[in-house]
Amino acid sequence: MALENCIDETGNWRLVDTMKILALNGPNLDKLGEREPDVYGSARLNDIVALLKERGKVLGVDVDSYQSNEEGELVSKIAAAAGVFNGIIFNPAAYTHTSIALRDAVAASPVPCVEVHLSNVHAREEFRHKSLTAGVCIGQIMGFGAQSYLLGLEAIVEHLRKQN
Ligand code: DQA
Repeated sequence: MALENCIDETGNWRLVDTMKILALNGPNLDKLGEREPDVYGSARLNDIVALLKERGKVLGVDVDSYQSNEEGELVSKIAAAAGVFNGIIFNPAAYTHTSIALRDAVAASPVPCVEVHLSNVHAREEFRHKSLTAGVCIGQIMGFGAQSYLLGLEAIVEHLRKQN
């Protein structure tokens, strides 16, 4: 949702609307790299965001990121995404399994959301098997470490492009 000068297929300059994608991360994901590396890998959140921005350039989209440990801040960020971002890649972290507020925020937002997880939550403790948020997202990708985010980016961009 940012107008940029680009050369189109016919070789002419024109203004195009560059898609903006928000990578939204929930609690404790600021500790990636040091937090349970056997489960979540050694990449830090900044590394994952850098990979997303790099892949975003290839796909022709802008990627911004936001992380919070606070449920209410995540709710507000989702509400504020309308009209600013075209899509959201969302790792709600532990709130995946507990937050009706985040589910309601995603359901109320016109901005489509892909849920991502580093780990395969179905191969872990039973309390992680249920996602309250997945049902209001367009899809869910998990178990591929940092690659889950890149797959999520490709999925949301493909979804948005199909709609236009
Ligand atoms: C997680 C899985 C959640 O169960 C956990 O609480 C997290 C990370 C993941 O990316 O694998 O914090 O969302």
